[in-house]
This record gives sequence, structure tokens and C-alpha cells, in this order.
Amino acid sequence: MKILITGGAGFIGSHVVRLFVTKYPNYQIYNLDKLTYAGNLQNLSDIEERENYTFLKGDIVDAAFLEEAFAKYKFDAVIHLAAESHVDRSISDPLAFVQTNVIGTVNLLNTARKHWADDLSKHLFYHISTDEVYGSLGEDGLFTEETAYDPRSPYSASKASSDHFVRAYFHTYGLPVKISNCSNNYGPNHFPEKLIPLAINNIKNERPVPVYGKGENVRDWLYVLDHARAIDVIFHEGKLGDTYNIGGVNEWKNLDLIELLCDQMDEKLNREKGHSRKLITFVKDRAGHDLRYAIDSSKLMDELGWKPSVTFEEGLSKTVDWYLQNPEWLENVTSGNYQSYYEQQYTDR
Ligand code: NAD
Ligand code: DAU
Repeated sequence: MKILITGGAGFIGSHVVRLFVTKYPNYQIYNLDKLTYAGNLQNLSDIEERENYTFLKGDIVDAAFLEEAFAKYKFDAVIHLAAESHVDRSISDPLAFVQTNVIGTVNLLNTARKHWADDLSKHLFYHISTDEVYGSLGEDGLFTEETAYDPRSPYSASKASSDHFVRAYFHTYGLPVKISNCSNNYGPNHFPEKLIPLAINNIKNERPVPVYGKGENVRDWLYVLDHARAIDVIFHEGKLGDTYNIGGVNEWKNLDLIELLCDQMDEKLNREKGHSRKLITFVKDRAGHDLRYAIDSSKLMDELGWKPSVTFEEGLSKTVDWYLQNPEWLENVTSGNYQSYYEQQYTDR
């Protein structure tokens, strides 16, 4: 089987590519990625020489490029992860999110539909989405697959739009699709603009750790390899046309999470207990900041037997170890443009 994975040089995509390349040596895996600021081939250096792996540099907004790639490689299936993924960036530049997340996704759907027209039933378009499409929860309740869409940031609005297009292609044209909506991921290869890797980088360098607002917002964290395992199971065993929610059953208030991280890092860096907590700095809140996300993954657990494999404390500790053991990775991705974006975002109140 020939599988096109888009966004495979990014955070989650790189783990999905590695899992498929190593677990299924008889599959040919094609990683299509534009290599934006978030794409990094260093994430895949350990598997780049494998015979069943090919990298294709390209932009999903470029329909002619997609046409050529589908004609040349004749993909059987697509796992679509390429996206602009950071909420703060979507607040400063919504159009970039419309381009890649909406237009790029529709380009892919069109190209797949055209090239698979002879026998749609042999193919699969699997779209990777987010729990943010469901909006924001109060103190109680969980997002289920039946929760009505209520996106509230430009990022989540663009992802919701792409989800709707994927479902529309299933209903209108019979394109075989699956969708999964996952909660916040963390783990190795995570670009340090997102909360956990940013905090690890700043604690390591004894720089202020920015906490938006009062730090009371809640996220449901999942180790990235557990997300990749869920994608594997849904790709192979999920029902066509269905949606699966994926979550960690692991809710944390941002401030509690940062305090845990500070304490773990004090121990690993032989710092006095409480030292890193002094770096916590409350900054201006994110515009339209969603209060709480939490996922009900019982459909995925009950129907397909998936469950998270690591506890948060273990996963976080492994993640910190990875960043401490890979200083060149952090240095590479935080050089150049990264600094100016960082300065722009974290102005104290
Ligand atoms: P990321 O930003 O780390 O990686 C995105 C990748 O897509 C990068 O390699 C980038 O170069 C590539 N890309 C961007 N625009 C492109 C374009 N126009 N053409 C081709 N490639 C392009 O993102 P991530 O955190 O790994 O997220 C991957 C997917 O999973 C996204 O669709 C995101 O919405 C979804 N998701 C992420 C999370 C999370 O916690 N990070 C949770 C749920 C769902
Ligand atoms: O829920 C899934 C989503 O999780 C994915 O779809 C997105 O691609 C991914 O970026 C993530 O979105 P969040 O906005 O939840 O993640 P982020 O790491 O940006 O922020 C996590 C929480 O931490 C959020 O409440 C904002 C807060 N925060 C974030 C940063 C970067 C801070 O307090 N300080 C920070 O410096």
C-alpha cells in the first residue's frame, strides 16, 4: 500500500511517519511537507534512509503540485496532518490558516477524488483534526463525537471548516473518509512555541515562563506516541465516514502543569526545590482564550480497544529528558525568526 502522509516533518506527523515506516515495512510511506517554520526533517533523520520512505517537499495549497504527485506515485490512501497549528499565530494572521487548513485540505480532497474515481472503495482519506472545533467547556462535561461544532479561534474555525469539507466529500461524492479529533499533544519534536516545550526551554535557560491570564485554563494532555497509535488503529480499523475523539483522560490547569514541570526539572537539573517556580510570570491573556477542553474517548476505547499507554508524570518526564538530551534540536529551531516571534508574543502586562 502507498500512503501519503501530509505534514510528516512536523510534531505529530513525524511520530506517525516513523510508526508507519517501522511497523509496516511492506507499506510505501510518502511524507509531503512544505517545511514551514514548524517542519523539520531532523525529526526523521533516523528513518530517512529506509527503503519504504520518500520525502516530497511541496505545498498543499499548490493544486498543480498535488496533481503531479498523485499522478506519479498513485497513492492508495492519505493521512492528512499538514496544517498551520498554533492558535496564537492564527490570531495574528488568520488568512494563513484559511490557505493551508481550508484551501489546502480542499485541494487534497479534489485531487484524491479525481485520481481515485475508478474505484473509490479501494481508497481512504483520513483527516486529522482537533478537539478545539467543539469550542470551550465550562467546569463540567466532556466533548463527545456528537457535540455540536462551536469553533472560537481562527485556528479552530479553519480546522472546523476543513472537517466539514471532508464530511461533505463523503456525503456528496462518496469519498471514503475518516476523521479524528484529538486533545493537546506533548512529547519530543514539539516546536517550542506551544506551552510545554516553550516552558521546558525557558526553565532550562532560566528565562521567564509566560502563563496566560491566571493559568486557570484546562487542557487534556496526551503523549504524542499515544496519538500516533490511535491514528494507526483508526486508519486500519475505524469505520468509514465516522469520527473518533482521542484524549488523554488527563486534565490539567495550566498553572498546575507548569508547577509540576518546574519541580521535575529542578530535580533533573539538580536545582534547589522551588527554584524554577520563581520563573513563572503571569502575562496578558490570549484573546478569546478557551477555558477548558476535555475529551470523551470511550468510542475509540470501546470499539477499537485503544487506550493511552503512559501516565502524564511518566510522559512529561520522558519529554523533559528528550529536550535536555537534544540541545542541538532546540538550538536549531530557536535560531533565526523564532526569536522575533517570541519577543512579539510574550510582552508582560
Ligand atoms: P506542526 O505545526 O508541528 O506541523 C505541521 C506540519 O505541516 C509542518 O511540518 C509544516 O511544515 C507542514 N505544513 C504546514 N503548512 C503546509 C502546507 N501548506 N503544505 C504542506 N505542508 C505544510 O503541527 P502538529 O502539532 O504536528 O499538528 C499536526 C496536525 O494535528 C494538525 O492538523 C493539527 O491541527 C492536528 N492536531 C494537533 C494537536 C496538537 O496538540 N499539536 C492536537 C490535535 C490535532
Ligand atoms: O486541543 C488541541 C490543540 O492543542 C491543537 O489543535 C493545537 O494545534 C495545539 O496548538 C493546542 O492548542 P492550545 O492553544 O491548547 O495549545 P498551546 O500550547 O498554545 O496552549 C496550551 C495552553 O497554555 C492554553 O491554555 C494557552 C496556555 N499558554 C500557552 C502558551 C504558548 C500559556 O499560558 N502560555 C504560553 O506561553
